[in-house]
Amino acid sequence: MLSSPWRSDFPALAVLEAQGEIYLDSAATAQKPQALINALSGYYTSGAANVHRAQHTTAERATRAFEGTREKLAAWLNVPGADQLIFTRGATEALNLLAYGLEHLVRPGDEIVVSALEHHANLLPWQQLALRRGARLVILPLDLAGAVDLPAARRLISAHTRLLAVSQLSNVLGTWQPLTELLPLARAQGALTVVDGAQGIVHGRHDLPALGCDFYVLSSHKLYGPEGVGALYGRREALAQLRHWQFGGEMVEIADYQHADFRPAPLGFEAGTPPIAGVIGLGAVLDYLLTLDETAVAQHEAALHAKLVAGLGKRRGLHLLGRPQAALASFAVDGVHHGDLAHLLTEQGVAVRSGTHCAMPLMNSLGRTGAIRVSLGLYNDGADLDVFFAALDRALEMLA
Ligand SMILES: Cc1ncc(COP(=O)(O)O)c(C=O)c1O
Repeated sequence: MLSSPWRSDFPALAVLEAQGEIYLDSAATAQKPQALINALSGYYTSGAANVHRAQHTTAERATRAFEGTREKLAAWLNVPGADQLIFTRGATEALNLLAYGLEHLVRPGDEIVVSALEHHANLLPWQQLALRRGARLVILPLDLAGAVDLPAARRLISAHTRLLAVSQLSNVLGTWQPLTELLPLARAQGALTVVDGAQGIVHGRHDLPALGCDFYVLSSHKLYGPEGVGALYGRREALAQLRHWQFGGEMVEIADYQHADFRPAPLGFEAGTPPIAGVIGLGAVLDYLLTLDETAVAQHEAALHAKLVAGLGKRRGLHLLGRPQAALASFAVDGVHHGDLAHLLTEQGVAVRSGTHCAMPLMNSLGRTGAIRVSLGLYNDGADLDVFFAALDRALEMLA
């Protein structure tokens, strides 16, 4: 049972299935709905044009569609003004934008606080910023479930804290982070707060003003959209503190040979030709997602996740990393190298991810060299998990 009523909206799944492949790696990137494929093809077949530059009709159409996505994304996240959303080329670029754009605010001796479970994208930009500015990177430890340990956070977030950057949903542990408690701790110290929503955005709708962060980053390709597109949300007061970081066409108000004045957000932070087709495609994906019954999607995802976690829990010698709450689960097996296991799963047509999942320090702190991660999309069926478990059992038998 547990069949997804939305599976047929994603044509690649039937193709993969016909090839004997089961896709359980949606946390790395998701398969795409037909609505996106139609939008990309529609844009390219009806006339590509650069945005915000030319006055001709084709450009006007492209600009309208491009800005339309900004409005749709703002509505999706309950952001009051679309101009509070900057398009980037991914979550990684959005985080780097922040680390450069906020650099002037970080002084020697300041502390930048991140959690122990961050993806490299939300660790390395801050680590490098701390190194450039003589600041200190403070790491919030985790509890046994795999969430930030709040008593420790209360001790470690202090008057020295200049900025807190933390994931909403862990890409390794599948745990929601206690943002409601964590963000006010930083705010009370006058620190800026950054939420990495690359995984969180995919599961449920999130009200960003209610969340109360200064900045939130997201990635389109995990939300069933195209690659090469991400977004940065900022509270107005927080956006006003950002310094420009990439320079070039369309981000400038006025320029002479020696000086230039730059536009405010969002266009001031979108230098060069943006990923126009991709942004328009993301708009089509949001339109598609809006047609789905939100509660039904949440229930389906929860039931699939429960089946995944329960099934893994039944295998002897298998250790779950943390206590996954949503979307995915990572595990290691006693005496079995994750690479060997992934190889045998691949041979049986099961696509999962193995390795350190772009979180090497977390993996080290868990005493693991790597793990297998199974991740789910709204298009997965319970039958995908049956195939996975059968393949897992066969692989474990072979490796025993
Ligand atoms: C938690 C988290 N943050 C950031 C990223 C980076 O996103 P992107 O590769 O789309 O820039 C990922 C991607 O796996 C992620 O899982």
